[in-house]
Amino acid sequence: MVKFADRIQPCDNGLSDIFAYANDPALISFAAGYPNNHLFPQNELQTAFNASLTDSASLQYSSAAGLKSLRAKIAAHISDTKRTFNADQILLTQGAQQGLDLTAKLLVNPGDGVVVEAPTYLGALSAFDAYQPTYYEVSLQDDGMDLSVLQKTLMTHSVKFIYTIPDFQNPTGSTLSLAKRHALLQLAERYDVIILEDSPYRDLRFSGDSLPSLASLDTTDHVISLGSFSKILSPGLRLGWLVAAPQFLQPLTELKLGNDVQSSTLVMNAIDQYLTEHDINTHIAKMNRAYVVKMNTMLNALDRYLPATVSFTKPTGGFFIYLTLPAEIDANQLLKQVILPEAKVAYVPSGSLFPVSHQANGIRLNFTNLDNDTIESGVKRLGKILTAVLRQPKYAKL
Ligand SMILES: Cc1ncc(COP(=O)(O)O)c(C=O)c1O
Repeated sequence: MVKFADRIQPCDNGLSDIFAYANDPALISFAAGYPNNHLFPQNELQTAFNASLTDSASLQYSSAAGLKSLRAKIAAHISDTKRTFNADQILLTQGAQQGLDLTAKLLVNPGDGVVVEAPTYLGALSAFDAYQPTYYEVSLQDDGMDLSVLQKTLMTHSVKFIYTIPDFQNPTGSTLSLAKRHALLQLAERYDVIILEDSPYRDLRFSGDSLPSLASLDTTDHVISLGSFSKILSPGLRLGWLVAAPQFLQPLTELKLGNDVQSSTLVMNAIDQYLTEHDINTHIAKMNRAYVVKMNTMLNALDRYLPATVSFTKPTGGFFIYLTLPAEIDANQLLKQVILPEAKVAYVPSGSLFPVSHQANGIRLNFTNLDNDTIESGVKRLGKILTAVLRQPKYAKL
């Protein structure tokens, strides 16, 4: 029997049960964080890929940092009134996910402190887990991390980085306020801790003004910032970016080289081609018009069908709404025992989104990947069964 490395932990995130129902045509799944298939600019990307393939350089190795003209376009896209970025500050990655892995690989020795929002993105924990950090959870408020909890943590523990999803957070949909962005940067500077900003949903704002990114407010080189084409163009392309000061970017590029040599030349060229021919902001605006209708359909249905003892977030963008059930309910047990078999509805239960406290009474719902009628009927089924469950004392121990 081969013994795996000590860092490999058994995985039980509650999602395997959902796969058992994946082929059931009655299943309505709010679980995956997928963009909507019908919104991919498929014809435009096909043209861009064809154009790239006319140049044999697209089939050749290129560079670990990634195609410079594409980096320049990304730099222009993420520049704002506070800061102008350039191509040399950017490393192209295999999705934002690779940026999570590379950053942890660069910074974390076994046992080192890593602060995460509670709840947080499961995929980030999967990436960080391999480096065996000690996690510290910081609870979330409507306007982002509770900075008094964060400050106490930084005062009492040695921390390598603070992982935050400041815009339309996964899983809660919450956004870090401008005041807290400034305060977070001050804390990072005072305690000399890196902030890992992960913001793949940043452009998916349905109302209000965009807030400056932490990277654009950072004047002391304390931020490593991640972005991605996954949610604004297509996740199948597997292309994201990492922005950092040279002292981080250079070793991160070396790590990328050791990891996968470079991102796909063909994909980088095709995206570059697409961005030359099309205004991505027009495409993003089209997606946002569709997604806001889906989000409002879900919010209205939640208002109508959920029992009063279940609260939920009201985001202004992104992919997710987060439900909080009464504290004694375990959303994973509920999913397995009742919701999947009886309501044929799937969601992500919260236990594995809290690496320390494993709080089990939360539910993440995605609204981007289904049509409006399906969202409405899925929430209706979920609400009906939750109402019944929460009335019955026999389910109190779930
Ligand atoms: C917060 C967050 N970070 C990173 C990722 C990974 O995205 P990518 O497809 O760019 O690797 C996701 C994907 O769902 C995410 O929600």
